[in-house]
Amino acid sequence: MGQNIAPFQAIAISRRAHELKAAGQRILHMEFGQPSTGAPKGAIAAAHHVLDSEAMGYWESLPLKERICRHYREGFGVELSPRRMVITCGASPALVLALSTAFNPGDRIAMARPGYVAYRNTVRALNLEPVEIACGPEVRFQLSAAALDALEPAPQGVIIASPANPTGTIIPKEELAAIAEVCQRRGIRIISDEIYHGLSYGPKIHSMLEFAPGAYVVNSFSKYFSMAGWRLGWLVSPEEGVARTNAYIGNLFLTAPSLAQHAGLITMDSRDELEGHLAVYRKNRALLLEALPRLGLDNIAPPDGAFYIYADVSRFTDDSLGFCLKLLEETGVATAPGVDFDPVDGGRFMRFSFALSTPEIEEALARLEPWFAAQPARQTA
Ligand SMILES: Cc1ncc(COP(=O)(O)O)c(C=O)c1O
Repeated sequence: MGQNIAPFQAIAISRRAHELKAAGQRILHMEFGQPSTGAPKGAIAAAHHVLDSEAMGYWESLPLKERICRHYREGFGVELSPRRMVITCGASPALVLALSTAFNPGDRIAMARPGYVAYRNTVRALNLEPVEIACGPEVRFQLSAAALDALEPAPQGVIIASPANPTGTIIPKEELAAIAEVCQRRGIRIISDEIYHGLSYGPKIHSMLEFAPGAYVVNSFSKYFSMAGWRLGWLVSPEEGVARTNAYIGNLFLTAPSLAQHAGLITMDSRDELEGHLAVYRKNRALLLEALPRLGLDNIAPPDGAFYIYADVSRFTDDSLGFCLKLLEETGVATAPGVDFDPVDGGRFMRFSFALSTPEIEEALARLEPWFAAQPARQTA
């Protein structure tokens, strides 16, 4: 039997936000990590054409696989064969495919804590064992080669996330190379979740494939490409995993939606629009980083990438879920509680997504400032 796994608490927040909205309240959605923009215009036009002209059966787009290979060649100098590319319904099934094909039941999979909620839960659902490594602000909430090297016994696998959810921090090139070296030496298989690639506010983002050519790499059209609801992503499988990965996807998921695959191909060449979204996020990030310390939220690792700020709210609470619910009820601003990302210390953190429009961020800040000013400091023993 699969293991029991915890629900995503941000979904409960979002459900309540929608109830309040139905009752007439204006809600600002900072709880989920999804762009408020749609797919690029050219992609939507292509989708209209496909709807009018095709029956849309099961389909794996070779042009899309080839275009993604070009993305690695041009962006990272990595040469890939389209054979190694599996088109999926987003990063979520790509993660399921990588975990289920690469590991045996009971295998131990290391990951940073805090981290994306589905890592530990998907690992558990597949009867693998999560090994969470506490990564605090002193290491910018990120895994390091040293932390992986110190794990005894060595885990069978590790999930690397850069830029990371919920913190947006990026692992520098030298550290990625050092992680690849430790994994090679200790026989640890790497799954690199590169879903926030394209969303950097400074540091250059590197693919794990530059340092560990045999890594499984997960990616998606949900974030930079602004197509979350289209359900499209990919998995790069190592050469020796190709047959197994194809057998698994055929049986578990068949194919990704053909409409999304057609549109995704056009999206990959819609750079101007996508870079326009990034410029908005850059502005939103700056607004939040400037304003949050005034709210008493000064313990933040400024995000290098993605579109999140993970803030220490320990001055006010150690019950982040209750705190986020109260914030929502009293201001209409929906956020995600830290307990989703960190079952141990997450009660003292909350996550803001800034993938909104700049006027929405300004409106959120105008509501947050008086609310935080009115919150009593937490009583500690
Ligand atoms: C780190 C990370 N990985 C994977 C996913 C899953 O994304 P999707 O299935 O939409 O591609 C998300 C979604 O928020 C995420 O934050």
